[in-house]
Amino acid sequence: MSNIAEVYYPPSAGVGIWALQPGQLTDGLAHAALAIMTSAYEHQFEGPHTVTNLPHGAVKGHFRPDDSASIRAQRERMALSMEGGSTYWFAVVHGLGTKAVQGLNPIGLAKTSPSRPRHWRHQAAEEPNLYLNDIAVFPAMQLQGVATSLVHAATKYSDHDPGAHLVLDNIVGSPAGPWFRQLGLRPRRLTRVAPFEIGDQSIPQVRMQTRGGHLGGFIVGLEDRYPRLTTNISIVVSRSESMPLEKG
Ligand SMILES: CC(C)(COP(=O)(O)OP(=O)(O)OC[C@H]1O[C@@H](n2cnc3c(N)ncnc32)[C@H](O)[C@@H]1OP(=O)(O)O)[C@@H](O)C(=O)NCCC(=O)NCCS
Repeated sequence: MSNIAEVYYPPSAGVGIWALQPGQLTDGLAHAALAIMTSAYEHQFEGPHTVTNLPHGAVKGHFRPDDSASIRAQRERMALSMEGGSTYWFAVVHGLGTKAVQGLNPIGLAKTSPSRPRHWRHQAAEEPNLYLNDIAVFPAMQLQGVATSLVHAATKYSDHDPGAHLVLDNIVGSPAGPWFRQLGLRPRRLTRVAPFEIGDQSIPQVRMQTRGGHLGGFIVGLEDRYPRLTTNISIVVSRSESMPLEKG
């Protein structure tokens, strides 16, 4: 678990990337995670203008963000993952005024998980590795650099081995794929990855992994490409279980 509580990146004033500490997990945040994934996936994967052409309502039927049993199950999944060493990174806006959860407005999500031997085999990836998944940003907040900040905070401010590989699974044909390639990730074509199951649809995924530079090189490449990630950022360091202080 990182000792970084929150990282602020200008110029996206008011957007912070917050590493959820185990004692801070609530039903509200589990609901926020489901709501972010639902609206991001609906936007990207439902309808005839998308690569997957999922029918309307398929994503909501999968995540069920407003169902209390589904929220409880999501909270249990998140708690178990955190016990296993994963970190949930929320992009949050302070004081937006609507749908606030514990005084914050979560607008984006990413999850990092460290490698362990059984995971290396499970992921069929070179070891050691850092697995990144559940990357999603509310459609209204997309294309403003939120995912870039999430990926940067999650890779740089976790306490992961810079020699590790960064690994993620990308839905084949998704618009995020070319971006991941530009960041230096390459598909592992011989690796079989479970498809993303939504309703009765199986959407193929491809495993992507850093080449050569590993995690340390990936972070340097990200910062070269997006200089704003290193200028005037403000970092809140805390090992406490308390909520980060509200920003004005
Ligand atoms: C993928 C996703 C997280 C990107 O979030 P975002 O906050 O809009 O991303 P950013 O603004 O930081 O953009 C990052 C880069 O991706 C590009 N990009 C993001 N969405 C794109 C889209 N729909 N089409 C084309 N390019 C896109 C941006 O142009 C940017 O590249 P640039 O820096 O060269 O201009 C968001 O679209 C999403 O939630 N999608 C649904 C869930 C998903 O597919 N997750 C990834 C699965 S591994």
